[in-house]
Amino acid sequence: MQTIVVRATNGDHHLEGIRQAADILRSGGLVVFPTETVYGLGANAMDGDAVSRIFAAKGRPADNPLILHVSRLEQLAEVTTVVPDAAMMLIHRFWPGPLTIILPKTDSVPGEVTAGLDTVAIRMPDNDIALAFLEECAVPVAAPSANLSGRPSPTSLKDVIEDLDGRVDCIIDGGNCTIGIESTVVDLSRSTPVLLRPGAVTIEDLESILGRVDVDPCVLSGTPCDASTRPKSPGLKYRHYAPKAPVVLYEGDSDCRLSMLSDSIRQYSSQGKTVGVAALRETLSRLSKEKGTQLILKEMGSAADPSSIAAALFSVLRSLDRDHADIILVEGVDDTGVGFAVMNRLRKAAGGNIVKCQPKC
Ligand code: TXA
Ligand code: MG
Repeated sequence: MQTIVVRATNGDHHLEGIRQAADILRSGGLVVFPTETVYGLGANAMDGDAVSRIFAAKGRPADNPLILHVSRLEQLAEVTTVVPDAAMMLIHRFWPGPLTIILPKTDSVPGEVTAGLDTVAIRMPDNDIALAFLEECAVPVAAPSANLSGRPSPTSLKDVIEDLDGRVDCIIDGGNCTIGIESTVVDLSRSTPVLLRPGAVTIEDLESILGRVDVDPCVLSGTPCDASTRPKSPGLKYRHYAPKAPVVLYEGDSDCRLSMLSDSIRQYSSQGKTVGVAALRETLSRLSKEKGTQLILKEMGSAADPSSIAAALFSVLRSLDRDHADIILVEGVDDTGVGFAVMNRLRKAAGGNIVKCQPKC
């Protein structure tokens, strides 16, 4: 399949390109579009055959449902039977934005979108290009992150091309995604709201509006959830966000992180490995004395600005793969606010390879 790339840089919409992409989507094709979180791989949500093509292009398991993207609140009536007050409050506060809400679905949403569940996930992205594209499409657009299944989500055109060139009909180039990690997912279809995936809208943000919010045990466990535990969000049971090289995560006390990272760099280098390190700005300056070994150091934002860490996370993991790191050592961050979402992604990327760093280690 030939993939075309249309330009749509912020501030200058290149509306022609967006129209062309929307035509492709309406006629059953696959279109990758930018959002504020990560790039999405879109199809007409009301066309089950088109939605099936998303699963084939990504290599995604068919039991993992998709998020519907809308540009107008009126579209909710088409896809959900009820919008409770709690959902309206969240929508008024956080849409357009990085928050996905799960509600009971209508019969018109095809089973391919929801993997047979009776609920549907919906969000309105906060990105001018995405909103202009969704307006032109004039149908809800089903879109997972635009990566091959299991890989880190794409936050730039280069990332999308790396995974999906030749597998989709069209890519809208919207530059770099500003947030860098996928939306927060909250289930409002049950009596108590449940957080299924942390993101830039934090649990504290949700609780300030909803009161108590439960956190799905699979989110807290960090590693992929076992299928036998029947995770509420099917995506929770798969290994995710993983670069090709194995990842080791160093979490806990910051001085100890530095010394454990330094020890590991020396140990892996002595085995002849090319060592990739993703660390915070504050730590990197102190690791630079390790230079001279086969070492690739990448900055993953600053501890003083947790959103900079989210924005850098996936692009740094992908760039260490491009640089042919044999092993990737990643510094963990403070587990609060957006840091909770960052650590959720990192723990899954590490798939259980976690070094716990205690004070005075
Ligand atoms: O930021 C985002 O959310 C991006 C952009 C493109 O919008 N999309 C994204 O989609 O991350 P995806 O498919 O990679 O992740 C969707 C998550 C999965 O973990 C899936 O299991 C969950 O949402 N999900 C979707 N529908 C659900 C439902 N009805 N019930 C429970 N979980 C659901
Ligand atoms: Mg994804």
